[in-house]
Amino acid sequence: MADSTKTAKLTIDGKDYELPIHSPTAGPEVIDIRKLYAQAGVFTYDPGFTSTASCDSTITYIDGGKGELLHRGYPIDQLAEKSHYLEVCYLLLYGELPSPAQLEDFESRVTNHTMIHEQMMYLFRGYRRDAHPMAIMVGVVGALSAFYHDSTDISDPWQREVASIRMIAKLPTIAAMAYKYSIGQPFVYPRNDLDYASNFLRMCFAVPAADYEVNPILSRAMDRIFTLHADHEQNASTSTVRLASSSGANPFACIAAGIACLWGPAHGGANQACLEMLQEIGTPDRIPEFIARAKDKDDPFRLMGFGHRVYKNFDPRAKVMKQSADEVLDLLGIEDNPTLQVAKELEKAALADPYFTDKKLFPNVDFYSGIILEAMGFPTSMFTPIFALSRTVGWISQWKEMISDPQLKIGRPRQLYHGETLRDYVDIENR
Ligand code: ACO
Repeated sequence: MADSTKTAKLTIDGKDYELPIHSPTAGPEVIDIRKLYAQAGVFTYDPGFTSTASCDSTITYIDGGKGELLHRGYPIDQLAEKSHYLEVCYLLLYGELPSPAQLEDFESRVTNHTMIHEQMMYLFRGYRRDAHPMAIMVGVVGALSAFYHDSTDISDPWQREVASIRMIAKLPTIAAMAYKYSIGQPFVYPRNDLDYASNFLRMCFAVPAADYEVNPILSRAMDRIFTLHADHEQNASTSTVRLASSSGANPFACIAAGIACLWGPAHGGANQACLEMLQEIGTPDRIPEFIARAKDKDDPFRLMGFGHRVYKNFDPRAKVMKQSADEVLDLLGIEDNPTLQVAKELEKAALADPYFTDKKLFPNVDFYSGIILEAMGFPTSMFTPIFALSRTVGWISQWKEMISDPQLKIGRPRQLYHGETLRDYVDIENR
């Protein structure tokens, strides 16, 4: 963190405290309150961390007002159009776009780690067939630490590197196996002559009796979904990974914690919830009814796929996703998809309604991704696992950055306590 020359002054009971202000390369200035408690004996209160920077990072930058998302400075729309997922993984992990030789080496390292320990098959078989694939993912990814002991020592940079490559390589295999298990089909082993996205599609859709020929347009769309979800700054699941790893926990356990957090409908579960909502709406004539419900303060219903904690303008990923949805449905000859129809009409209706525009509620990345995934043949229960496998590289990049920071401290938020003060224990017969 660069030395700051600017300071902020805080006055408490007539006493002044000087707080350093850090100037980032982009984004608002940051008041450094690390010494505040030691000097002034007060805490700050910020549930939901709406005004608190929890780390100093160089990976991803979001300007929510402008609707801008940059990875290591490169805008997401350029990456989605010109790059591909494994190149973006390299960029996130190592900070720069790779040379051709670096990319070839990286792709080969990932490709050679796609299989999982054969013994792990039995873990899958311990789950009920109707288990949600995310439940399986949380368990199986955490269990990687029981199978790959040689990459759990976080103080060794080489082991951190091996763990990172292993997770990027194995998450698609694990997600595809969770899917196959849930539908009662045999697991399909990875094939290392296929690219990352094609391999995942094949592991999901091939069966021993009939191979699956990967359509390049679908595999490009799949790759784009991975790319668009690769990282997103200090969101809930990334902060969960950072907090879990601040205790020194092994990387597999930390990524499992991130997957658990991602599962919630306010975060990664939103694409499943969004598609279910679009299907429940069913036909455009029912849109006003659902818009009215979303606006009704007494109704807990929200328009899924709308709104974002950080973007107060269009989510730049949603624009690319919308274009991808059109391409995929066109390729598959699904021109009159009723869900896409409802999505487009709903977007139009919400954007014409001051309730949504005044609150700066725009479609987020999840609004269109579910439509693409459904058209590809994925059930809704697979949407969040696909998000999890895409985001793994972001979690890992943030984890690696944190572990190599000499200022690393265990995360330990404070609280504003409003409970009982000291009181004596009352024996049970006297209560
Ligand atoms: N539909 C209707 N009203 C909404 C919606 C919505 N989707 N989202 C926010 N609002 C309203 C709230 O009721 C609130 O109104 P009020 O000020 O009158 O009380 C106001 O907008 C602000 O909402 P908050 O919940 O305070 O905003 P926050 O930034 O905390 O929430 C969130 C962001 C969780 C994404 C929210 O917009 C939401 O629940 N959206 C639907 C779920 C969703 O799509 N999540 C995916 C996020 S993207 C991702 O994880 C990849």
